[in-house]
Amino acid sequence: MQMVRTTSPEQTRALGERLGAAAFPGTVIALVGDLGVGKTLLAQGVGHGLGVPGLVTSPTFVLMRVHDGGRLPLVHADIYRLCDEDEAEHAGLPEALASGAVALVEWADLLPGLLPDDHLRVELRWLTGCPDQRELRLIATGPTHAPLEALIHAPS
Ligand SMILES: Nc1ncnc2c1ncn2[C@@H]1O[C@H](COP(=O)(O)OP(=O)(O)OP(=O)(O)O)[C@@H](O)[C@H]1O
Ligand SMILES: [Mg+2]
Repeated sequence: MQMVRTTSPEQTRALGERLGAAAFPGTVIALVGDLGVGKTLLAQGVGHGLGVPGLVTSPTFVLMRVHDGGRLPLVHADIYRLCDEDEAEHAGLPEALASGAVALVEWADLLPGLLPDDHLRVELRWLTGCPDQRELRLIATGPTHAPLEALIHAPS
């Protein structure tokens, strides 16, 4: 587990860029945290780091979007409004996660069975009284994603 406190939206986005630059086929990133904490902002950084053209916007009303044109395809899912695993399967999410793309899942905790055992969990938390600060934790749940934890710190 690695932890950092970001003090601006740009810093959170920059961490996403480092993750996107280092992501490999099959990278799955679970984004966990309250409404408005910065999950989509981090996802935008990942898109940028992967070289995806255009802005990665929240897919809330479509469940999942696939962005092509970067170094690897980027699957961006937001399961906030998903009812159950059947619905995820119907939408093709399990296949998308297993496709060798880079995948981001906002609200991943709502359907824990959806994720592969080995993934990177990113927990974002508000810090009371500090509107532009967030605490971010990177937790690799297996050896494949373990190297990504080190990206929490920008190279100096
Ligand atoms: N340190 C910070 N890191 C990330 N976001 C920050 C930070 N400080 C302020 N913000 C602001 O918090 C907001 C985060 O919004 P974002 O859409 O990324 O949240 P979200 O977690 O995706 O929300 P939702 O649950 O609605 O999908 C942005 O307006 C951003 O500018
Ligand atoms: Mg969002």
